[in-house]
Amino acid sequence: MNNTTLKYFKQQLPDLAGGYTLDVPDCETKLNQNENAWDWPAALKQEVFERVRDLSWNRYPPFHPDQFVAKVAHYIGADPEQVLVGNGSNELLYAIFVSTLERGRKVVIPQPTFTVYKLLADLLGAEVTTEGLNDELQYDADALAKASEDAAVVVLATPNNPTGSVIDPTDLEHLVNNSGALWVIDEAYFEFHGETAIELTKHCRNLVVLRTFSKAFATAGLRFGCMVAHPEAKPIFAAAKLPYNLNIFTMAAVETAIENAVTLKSRVEEIKRERERVARRLREYSGVSVYPTRANFVLFETEREPRELWKAMVARSVLIRDVSGYPRLGKALRVSIGRPEENDAFLKALEYAMTVVA
Ligand SMILES: Cc1ncc(COP(=O)(O)O)c(C=O)c1O
Repeated sequence: MNNTTLKYFKQQLPDLAGGYTLDVPDCETKLNQNENAWDWPAALKQEVFERVRDLSWNRYPPFHPDQFVAKVAHYIGADPEQVLVGNGSNELLYAIFVSTLERGRKVVIPQPTFTVYKLLADLLGAEVTTEGLNDELQYDADALAKASEDAAVVVLATPNNPTGSVIDPTDLEHLVNNSGALWVIDEAYFEFHGETAIELTKHCRNLVVLRTFSKAFATAGLRFGCMVAHPEAKPIFAAAKLPYNLNIFTMAAVETAIENAVTLKSRVEEIKRERERVARRLREYSGVSVYPTRANFVLFETEREPRELWKAMVARSVLIRDVSGYPRLGKALRVSIGRPEENDAFLKALEYAMTVVA
């Protein structure tokens, strides 16, 4: 690259050029992004359209969307003074990292996990440590305690993506209470598991919990997430957030989602049942091993070349995630749980792919 182009950037940036990328061929069955396979009912979409139609589009959204935040806080079981809302939980993750990480600071990101964590940490020049998961890719409390000793921040997804593993709540409480680091707990898949650390944020100053509406709430396209921090820490994180980060359409949709939570999340139990069915069937395939999961996806390993299996399934119009490039996952693929017929299409495509890939 030309030096004139390079000179504008921070030292670490040229190595990260391109950022987060994803190979998404067009397939009939799409099980690659842990989305909810059931879109919103037409009547609920209509309700959002009507709410937005009556708003003033020429005006900025409220500077402090207090009523909106109060509604979200009440729904997730937090205090409004603890909650920040964002354009997807990724945006809030960005605000947390910008507020806490820089060159010379250490962050613990147990690998394998959600790719965005390391990408942001690298962007900010922080030192990344990847310990924290044992040989079975389960959280290891002792390893986490050791890795976090001199760290500024620890980031854990529970359930973790792409492993599906969770941290024991007692271990987490003990770790947070005995640590000088900030613990960021990403609960993107909370609804498929059911355990939360939100209660702990009321007295732990070094804990932040992230939630998203992209998964159980089937709202990935609208981008909404929130974070819960100790009331003293929240305004400091808020300094790293852009004003008016939420548009009025998303806010109207989220209000509608909360008012209709039972309808929108009605598929969660079915997804959990399907998750067990898919995992059980996968275990019957020879040469396939399956990781236990508490999320809406299943991680599995095969003796065959994962990239070739992935391609053979794409050729059959079934798209899953090739995670074999992630640390420690050289043999792995991840499938999101979809509708029963989509899950069947995946199982059939994999069975076929295993006959054509050596
Ligand atoms: C662990 C984890 N956190 C966050 C996200 C993204 O959430 P959002 O859509 O709210 O930005 C994902 C998406 O796959 C995820 O797996």
